[in-house]
Amino acid sequence: MCPINNGNERIQSNESSMLSREEIKSIESWISQMGKYQFFKTAKQKMVTAKKTLKFKYKMIGYGYNRIVYDLNNGYILKIALCEVGLIGNANEAYIYNNCNEEAQKYLCPVKEFGSGWIIMKKMGTKVPLAIMEYTKLIELELKFLRYGIIPIDLRLDNVAFSEDNEMVVIDYGLFTMDLKSPVLRWFD
Ligand SMILES: Nc1ncnc2c1ncn2[C@@H]1O[C@H](COP(=O)(O)OP(=O)(O)OP(=O)(O)O)[C@@H](O)[C@H]1O
Ligand SMILES: [Mg+2]
Repeated sequence: MCPINNGNERIQSNESSMLSREEIKSIESWISQMGKYQFFKTAKQKMVTAKKTLKFKYKMIGYGYNRIVYDLNNGYILKIALCEVGLIGNANEAYIYNNCNEEAQKYLCPVKEFGSGWIIMKKMGTKVPLAIMEYTKLIELELKFLRYGIIPIDLRLDNVAFSEDNEMVVIDYGLFTMDLKSPVLRWFD
């Protein structure tokens, strides 16, 4: 597992206890060519191209604008960047999870390993009912993060899940920041 950095550093050791050497190589190859596809209009187009290039044996369980997500079938999921923002998101999640305060950590999906372009996290049940109570919980969660010094950019119901003890946890905190000088915030200049 590579050392956690501040989200700016891109050179990481790329070892994993869960991914094989070939799988890491396949990710490196995808990351080195993904720039060619940055003009694709939809997330689906990027996901399909990444999937074809990666040729993983794992089942894809989700994707967004920035990452493709595979189920490693051992209680963990693997997120691979689909673009620059995905690279920053992965590094950012690893950094925030490992550097935030203990209280805030309870509300973040645990990060297991992180490498160049990829991150492994605990698999969560993602079916969040779209009820008014869930929106209330989401707002409460937002306030908690702000209290802990984390700006929860892009916190929405699509990006949360429930833990075994029925606590709302964030599965996509790639755009959260603890640092007002973060590269994440530079996009909003
Ligand atoms: N820890 C997890 N456990 C189970 N499924 C997950 C987990 N993390 C992500 N997923 C699935 O993969 C999808 C995409 O993941 P994620 O939201 O992290 O990608 P993204 O590209 O950063 O998304 P966005 O478009 O919101 O920026 C999620 O909506 C969810 O369905
Ligand atoms: Mg998301």
